Amino acid sequence: QTKVVKIDSANIDDAAMKEACDLIRAGELVAFPTETVYGLGADALHPEASKKIYAAKGRPSDNPLIVHISKFEDLVSIAREVPPQAKKLADAFWPGPLTMIVWKNDRVPYETTGGMDTVAIRMPKHPVALRLIEGSGCLIAAPSANTSGKPSPTEASHVALDMDGRIPMILDGGPVGIGIESTIVDLSESTPMILRPGYITQEMLQEVLGEKVCMDPGIIASDSTRKPKAPGMKYKHYAPKADLVLVEGETDKVVARINELVREKQQLGQKVGVIATDETFLRYEADHVVSIGAREDEDAIARHLYKILREFDDWNVDAIYSESFATPRIGQAIMNRLLKAAGHQVIPV
Ligand code: TXA
Ligand code: MG
Repeated sequence: QTKVVKIDSANIDDAAMKEACDLIRAGELVAFPTETVYGLGADALHPEASKKIYAAKGRPSDNPLIVHISKFEDLVSIAREVPPQAKKLADAFWPGPLTMIVWKNDRVPYETTGGMDTVAIRMPKHPVALRLIEGSGCLIAAPSANTSGKPSPTEASHVALDMDGRIPMILDGGPVGIGIESTIVDLSESTPMILRPGYITQEMLQEVLGEKVCMDPGIIASDSTRKPKAPGMKYKHYAPKADLVLVEGETDKVVARINELVREKQQLGQKVGVIATDETFLRYEADHVVSIGAREDEDAIARHLYKILREFDDWNVDAIYSESFATPRIGQAIMNRLLKAAGHQVIPV
C-alpha cells in the first residue's frame, strides 16, 4: 500500500510534489531522494511525526535524526547559538553533503534529537529534497530510508524493499549521485570534529575554516573501547548477511590470497562472493564476483558500495571477500563503511 511515484528532478511533477508536501504537513512519512542516499522524511518540529520515523525504521530511540533545511535562516531558527564556523561552511558546502551539529533551541523536540541538546542540520542539494522542504513549509527530519542496520538505500527500490507497507509514499528520483551518507561535523564544541567521514573531507573543511578539524577517534578504532560521538556510528551497520572479510595489500598478492581463501571455503561446501574492481574482476574464481568500479574512480566505488552489499543478500553466499579501497580523497569514508560492514575483519597480505 506504499505509493511509489517516479519523479523527474529536471521537471518535477507539481501534483506528486503537492501530495508529498501535504503528507509531510499532516505529520506523515515520505521517502525522498537526496544527493547522498534516500531519506525517510517527516516534520522535524512535530514530535509525533519524528516518532513515526523510529517506528518505521526499527531505529533505537536514542539515535538522533538529521534536520534537513532549505536556507541558512532555517539553521538560525533552530540553533541556540550559531557557531562562527557554520556560516563559512554553509557558504562553501551548502546545499550539499555536509551535516553540521550545533546546540538546539526549544523549537526542536527531543524526539527528533534522540534526547540530545544538540541538533544535526543539513541543506541537501537534490532538487526533489529542496522542493519537499520548501513546498511543505516544514523542516524535514530524515535519516537514511533503510531498516535500521541495513545498508542505506541508493535507489527507490531499496527503500521499497525495506519500507513497503510502513509508509504512505516514496518519491522515486532514480539512483542517487554520491551513494554514501553526508560528512558530519560537530560544531558544538570549540574545535570542530568530524563524527562521520563523507564526500566532504577533513582537508576540505580545514581549508575553508583555516583551523584544525579533528576526527572522532571512536570512528577509526576497530575495538569498542572508544565510543563514537555520533550515536548512530556505534551500531552494527551496513552489514550483509554473509560474513565479509577485507583483504588489504598490493593488488597481485590480494588477488592470489582471495582466490586461495575462496577455494578453502568452497572445499567446505560454502558459496563465496568477491568484491573486485574493473581491473581485477576477471582474475577471480568464485561463485559471485562483482566489480565495484574502476580502482581510480572513487566516485563510482562510493556510488556502488551499498547496492553491492544489498545484492549479496539476494545471492545467498556464505562468505564475501573484498579488496580494500583506501583511495586518496573519499577513501576514508568508503573504508569507514566497508570496515563496519566487515565487522573490522581485515587480512593484510
Ligand atoms: O546523507 C545523509 O546524511 C542522509 C541523508 C538522508 O541526508 N541521512 C543520514 O541520516 O545518513 P542517518 O540518520 O542515517 O544518520 C545520522 C547520523 C547518525 O549516526 C546519528 O547518530 C548522527 O547522525 N547524529 C544525528 N544527530 C546528532 C547529534 N545531535 N549528535 C551526534 N550525532 C548525531
Ligand atoms: Mg542511516
